[in-house]
Amino acid sequence: MNLKDLYINFFISKGHKQIPSAPVVPENDASVLFNTAGMQPLIPYLMGKTHPYGTRLVDYQKCIRTNDLDSVGDTTHHTFFEMLGNWSLGDYFKEESISYSFEFLTKHLNIPIERLAVTVYEGDDKIPRDEVSASCWKKLGIPVERIAYLDADNNFWIAGESGPCGGDTEIFYWRSNDDIPKVFNPEDNRWVEIWNNVFMEYYKDPDGNVTELPKKNVDTGMGVERTAAILEGVNDNYLSSVWIDVIKLIEQISNLKYEEHKESMRIIADHMRTAVFILGDNAHVVPSNTDRGYILRRLIRRAIRHTRYLNIDVNSNWEEQIANLIINKYSKYYEELVNNKETIINELKKEKTKFSHTLEKGLRVFEKETSNLNNGDTITGELAFKLYDTFGFPIELTEEEAQNKGLKVDIEGFNKRFEEHQEKSRTASKGMFKGGLAGDSETETRYHTATHLLNAALKKVIGPSSHQMGSNINNERMRFDFTCDHKLTDEEKKQAEDLVNEWINEGIDVTVEEMPKEKAVELGAEAMFIERYPDIVTVYSIGDISKEICMGPHVKNTKEVGHFKIVKEEASSAGVRRIKGVIE
Ligand code: ALA
Repeated sequence: MNLKDLYINFFISKGHKQIPSAPVVPENDASVLFNTAGMQPLIPYLMGKTHPYGTRLVDYQKCIRTNDLDSVGDTTHHTFFEMLGNWSLGDYFKEESISYSFEFLTKHLNIPIERLAVTVYEGDDKIPRDEVSASCWKKLGIPVERIAYLDADNNFWIAGESGPCGGDTEIFYWRSNDDIPKVFNPEDNRWVEIWNNVFMEYYKDPDGNVTELPKKNVDTGMGVERTAAILEGVNDNYLSSVWIDVIKLIEQISNLKYEEHKESMRIIADHMRTAVFILGDNAHVVPSNTDRGYILRRLIRRAIRHTRYLNIDVNSNWEEQIANLIINKYSKYYEELVNNKETIINELKKEKTKFSHTLEKGLRVFEKETSNLNNGDTITGELAFKLYDTFGFPIELTEEEAQNKGLKVDIEGFNKRFEEHQEKSRTASKGMFKGGLAGDSETETRYHTATHLLNAALKKVIGPSSHQMGSNINNERMRFDFTCDHKLTDEEKKQAEDLVNEWINEGIDVTVEEMPKEKAVELGAEAMFIERYPDIVTVYSIGDISKEICMGPHVKNTKEVGHFKIVKEEASSAGVRRIKGVIE
């Protein structure tokens, strides 16, 4: 029996009910792009709501974490992974939780106790040192030298900045053939964490205030990929049963050996699996330039770039072969993959075709312009910028191509041109709005903020798939283009207008901060042509109503905007509508 089935059956035998994996795209949580942990869909229940399945739950959950994208390619990092979890919602607490984990590991996975070690929370001024967990572990036979007390950075768990949280105890496995040291040193990376049992007793609000939850809960998480590799005795996750058939297929498609092309093969395998799971989710995310669609696009395009390094024929159906294998592999557990198979394959193919055109054009220019350079020469910032600006070549791609040819890239020169260009377009857009009354920039500023409010309102009225496609502002009106497949009804127009005015009347503060582009995307910031933004972007937030990458300027508080009115709604182009609005 495989790990997932063993785990679920074990906890069912301990009175748990199995709950289905929630979609990777959270259903009722706009604060994250994807579910990053098994507990995420359970937050309302950890906060006290009654769960229809009772107080003991178990599942396997589809999770996606893209904050570590650049680490993918090593032996352990994945953008998609499955998390096994069991929960007590105000039912059992530390003692049972620890003994269940111990029993499962030692009796069902047959892990020798000598290979186990644990960490527990050392406490802080509010939460006492966790002697309860330590004594449970000792009773079960874990020697004191194998118990480490660690601080909040290590043994206090919260998803992001706020939410249910608490101290935890983490279980480590000795993953090495070296002699097992008597004393556990958590810094020694031959000890790998396999299970995290969080004792959730607190709630941290967005201002950092901590209160007690109505009930004491247990939230545990065990990663399938890592545990499978451990049980199978391999030091590279991609050699475990989770991945090996995908790797073999890539070897077969490319006619190359994994041993010699590990990084590219891992990236292709990982990114394609994540893309299949995103496309296969019932939320129907497709590649685009905003939020989830952008992450999906990046994953597919990075996988495509690596297929080129393996000389895989772009016109072969490699993407379909890999997707089919992944769908079949997981179909028993996730029937949505089977139901959405056609979409998955079509979208992958579409994105491949689209990206290949850009790539081919850019590469031809790259080849031509670098043909007279020799090993060790440097590509000018000017050329790097031209590739970026005209052919949509991300700078990393130019760097990768250069590296393959033994060339360097003048990154500083690229950045300089990039900034000059930004400055020029900023001045140009300012110039465009200039003219007319003195002080019109104030009006313009009000219109800028109204645009963000309208964008947010349309997402509520039409749905989250509505995206800004363009806007134009002068001191008399705003024009706003957005994706929508139908003419807005009078009711929809009124709803959008009312929402904007409601937010204006609420007097919500508008805040601005700078952050890395990736973080802005992770936070769900709306952006039009994300690939064209610099690495550090300015993000404007209007309370929790709107978050957009934007150069501004904006008012400080929505009440400065004035009364908003939609004066016209019309077609702009296929699938794009245009609203003209004024503020009075
Ligand atoms: N929620 C905990 C984790 O993700 C179990 O590690």
